[in-house]
Amino acid sequence: MSNVDVILKEGLAALDAAADLVELEQVKARYLGKSGALTELLKQLGKLSPEERKSAGATINAAKQAFETRHNEVRDGFNAAKLAAQLAAESLDVTLPGRGITPAGLHPVTLTLERITGLFATMGFEVADGPEIESDFHNFQALNIPENHPARAMQDTFYVEGGDVLRTHTSPIQVRYMLDNQPPIKIVAPGRVYRVDSDATHSPMFHQMEGLWIDQNVSFADLKATITEFLRRFFERDDMQVRFRPSFFPFTETSAEIDVLDEQGRWLEVGGSGMVHPNVLRNVGIDPEKYTGFAFGIGLDRFAMLRYGVNDLRLFFENDLTFLKQFN
Ligand code: PHE
Repeated sequence: MSNVDVILKEGLAALDAAADLVELEQVKARYLGKSGALTELLKQLGKLSPEERKSAGATINAAKQAFETRHNEVRDGFNAAKLAAQLAAESLDVTLPGRGITPAGLHPVTLTLERITGLFATMGFEVADGPEIESDFHNFQALNIPENHPARAMQDTFYVEGGDVLRTHTSPIQVRYMLDNQPPIKIVAPGRVYRVDSDATHSPMFHQMEGLWIDQNVSFADLKATITEFLRRFFERDDMQVRFRPSFFPFTETSAEIDVLDEQGRWLEVGGSGMVHPNVLRNVGIDPEKYTGFAFGIGLDRFAMLRYGVNDLRLFFENDLTFLKQFN
């Protein structure tokens, strides 16, 4: 066997023995690199006579080609194996059951809010909105609650730096609306409110919806009729007994708590109401000699509890899906 054949045979065996792509390239360098075994043979061609050079050149080039062909085969083999391993590792079993897309649902308080604003919409009330961080003016002063008024203690408040407050009721939405609009005004104002309060029936954050109707000749009779109609439709009881119990709010005069008679014959307080105080109308630039109106406020969470028979308010805010899923 000639020198070329020996080198080629060793070279092919080395290619076959390479354990991985890195080793394979090292073998290639040993034979075809700058001072590789086959390269060295080519370099020596110059020393031969022209005739010898021709046939020796052909032999060496054939060996070189055979080596390269084998090198490519082995390399392709490694690459194919690598790809196969990768495909196996990332394989997707299309016969597995899917993870599923669970249908989304609305929170029970949101459902209650939508139901209530829907009922008021049928009576001509629009929905108004406002900020949750309020000025002292909008939350208290405009509502006839001056600084140092004891009613401020009733609504133990979260203050933020600079003297603004987390609104303690949604009444400031009505203040903003009255400052921007002249009567007739017929709105409901739902939203989050905040008070320093926490037990089974009180949460430091809860939801309210207040309503306001101002026009010429709006009377306490309109208040009673509107609220009674709403409550009967909400609870789906046409004979529901509703009671307006005298009370006090700084922003209404006359003022009344709203009670309903439950199925066990007990009176339940469900909200506050009253005729808008003339001072409040003056504070927002509405003439109390010309216009009158009523306002009311209800707790949305309370209504959700009553409608769904939930006895602990905190359940609404714990984000327990087992609980929340029951309402959809
Ligand atoms: N703003 C009152 C509260 O949060 C509720 C209310 C509104 C009472 C309107 C009377 C009239 O306590």
